[in-house]
Amino acid sequence: MYVCLNGKLVKEREARVSVFDHGFLYGDGVYETLRTYGGKVWQLREHLKRLRGSARLLQIGVPWSDGQVSNWLEALLEKNGFRESRIRISVSRGENGFDFTMSKKPTLVIVASKLVPEPVEVYTKGVSLISLPWQRFLPHAKTTSLLPMILAQPLLKQKKAYEGIFLDEKKNVLEGTMTNITAVFGNTLIAPKDGVLSGETQKTVLQIAKKCGLTVKWGKLSLKKLLQADEVFLTSTVREIMPVRMVDGKKIGRVCPGSLTKLLMSAFEEYVMRDWM
Ligand SMILES: Cc1ncc(COP(=O)(O)O)c(C=O)c1O
Repeated sequence: MYVCLNGKLVKEREARVSVFDHGFLYGDGVYETLRTYGGKVWQLREHLKRLRGSARLLQIGVPWSDGQVSNWLEALLEKNGFRESRIRISVSRGENGFDFTMSKKPTLVIVASKLVPEPVEVYTKGVSLISLPWQRFLPHAKTTSLLPMILAQPLLKQKKAYEGIFLDEKKNVLEGTMTNITAVFGNTLIAPKDGVLSGETQKTVLQIAKKCGLTVKWGKLSLKKLLQADEVFLTSTVREIMPVRMVDGKKIGRVCPGSLTKLLMSAFEEYVMRDWM
């Protein structure tokens, strides 16, 4: 497999980043995870925009144009030749000594590996979640400092849970460690708005939901309320829409996946097929 390092396609084993790179030393970087459908990159423009937004918040320069990044990505996809790919675009501050302001030479790495879908049962039976009494720092940015997610992993393993939910100090639901959360009450969908990464998948799914005649509300969602939801689902670029069966050991709704989650799963698939492939 090849990767793209600062605009050059390099064999993965030969790709090297300095031990003085801020990404390695400090987790001082930003990233995006993308995927292809039918070999075409899904929502590239939106992800590059969010990458730039994250970089701006950390004052990391992104000296490459969207056109350059997308040309390099296309070349990489062609070189690797996978049918569908999972893509990670990472930008670190590069080698910058003890300077944490705008760097002269940030590092760009694009990895496009074979997309391995999640096991089918997670979609047919749903997943279980546990709440976590902590949250991400600077939640609007997608940074490579992933400690809040990493610290959740032993707990997830211990409780046999698929995903953790970050909570704020007042026990409001924020987001999953790698996903956004939406709760369904009757025909209304509630999505936490503040203190979360603005998820591209969730935005798309909620637009589709509105077209299906459902009501969408962005706002506060307490953990207590989440446990009373008729349905809950997670969204992310790679996972798409994933039904939730249980939160903190309590069953959500009567059946999983619930009827509206199922409706949105098929409407999303149709949207991708019709408008994209
Ligand atoms: C913390 C967090 N929230 C939400 C998401 C989902 O975002 P998107 O739908 O844009 O992939 C991700 C994706 O990786 C994430 O890391």
